[in-house]
Amino acid sequence: MTTVVKTSVESMLRGLPIKAQNRIHKTLDSVGLMLSVQNPKVAASMAPSAVRGLILGRGRHGDHVDMPAHHSAHFRLNYQSDFSEMYDLYRRAVSKQWDGEGDLPWELDVTPDNPATQILPRSFVPFDEIEGFGIRLTALEERQLTWDIAAWLLSQFMHGEQGSLFASAQVTECVHWTDAKLYGATQVMDEGRHLEVFLRYLDTKLEKIYTVNDNLFVLIDELMTDGRWDFKFLGMQIMIEGLALGAFTTIYQQTREPLLKELLKMVIQDEARHVHYGVLALRDHITQNISEKERREREDWVYEVALLMRNRFLMHEVYEEWFSHKVPLKVWDEQMMDSPSMVKFRNIMFERLIPNLEYIGLMSDRIKGHYEKSGLTRYLGGRNATQLTEDDLTADTGYEHDELPSELAEVAAGSPS
Ligand SMILES: [Fe+2]
Ligand SMILES: [Fe+2]
Repeated sequence: MTTVVKTSVESMLRGLPIKAQNRIHKTLDSVGLMLSVQNPKVAASMAPSAVRGLILGRGRHGDHVDMPAHHSAHFRLNYQSDFSEMYDLYRRAVSKQWDGEGDLPWELDVTPDNPATQILPRSFVPFDEIEGFGIRLTALEERQLTWDIAAWLLSQFMHGEQGSLFASAQVTECVHWTDAKLYGATQVMDEGRHLEVFLRYLDTKLEKIYTVNDNLFVLIDELMTDGRWDFKFLGMQIMIEGLALGAFTTIYQQTREPLLKELLKMVIQDEARHVHYGVLALRDHITQNISEKERREREDWVYEVALLMRNRFLMHEVYEEWFSHKVPLKVWDEQMMDSPSMVKFRNIMFERLIPNLEYIGLMSDRIKGHYEKSGLTRYLGGRNATQLTEDDLTADTGYEHDELPSELAEVAAGSPS
């Protein structure tokens, strides 16, 4: 949108009720997103999912949505072992299966009222920005908002897990190596278990589930419906799994709630293998099997998806519930984009992703400039999925929690933190 058009739209919006302003802002924002995609092939492949997710809001209405699949199931006839690294990963996955019912301390109470078992640290919530809106929250409201933000975040994790469950089933069908099909079967089981434990935590402990974020829905819809197996791997195994791994490890380090901490530890160990699988499958394919033009298309697609995920994780569902009667969505978006705690969280999500893109050959000098402009190159040169073990990812990184009142410090010392 040109500056002149933008300014006149903005002054027109100011005279309208907040609800109407928000509807117009959302539509313009969605259209602006599609127009900003540089590569026309990438824009064409993203458009149908963007319309379904952003304009029609398919992820938010009704109790289900069907996503037609267009891939081919690749049936092996010779059953030769054909990828030893993949086979090793399969054996490791078989030996590390766990039970979502018996291996987690579900008997623990989860409550917003005990700072010793605080689900998210205070520094995670953008309280300063909220105060900047002229809104004063009581201590009780602050605890409730923290709880809701945790429920929102974990709800997005859960929706992502459902997407991972279906995508891992699809890639098991369409991947060509026999050993990759064996490995894929273990991931399907892993993702089923992740869906089970996140759902149970939200349903029985937080007692709140938010709808799927529109941008996450767009990405899931796109990779479920795209017939090309390597786009499914890129979208799910590299992008969603990579970003989720960054988000899971951040929350794992920062939560004081022992059940969630244990749950995330188990999930992270599985996810580390999932990203490793994607990296193995794509490395040789991208560097050896496809043309430069095809590689470039994949590189552009990944970049657009990365921005979609980074710029748009703005907690709209929490906004609707808490602040939509007081603050226009546009103002909320601008504040959340700049909020230091949110900026930090969104950037950390990329810590696991960027080194993997480098490793599989999707970080040419051409695209590096774009990532640099978006402030995402700080993680270049980091360890990729083949260099990280499950234990590395759940090691204590020395995160310093907000200080607890002394009478609670003893209680906290008794629980894993
Ligand atoms: Fe998962
Ligand atoms: Fe996964």
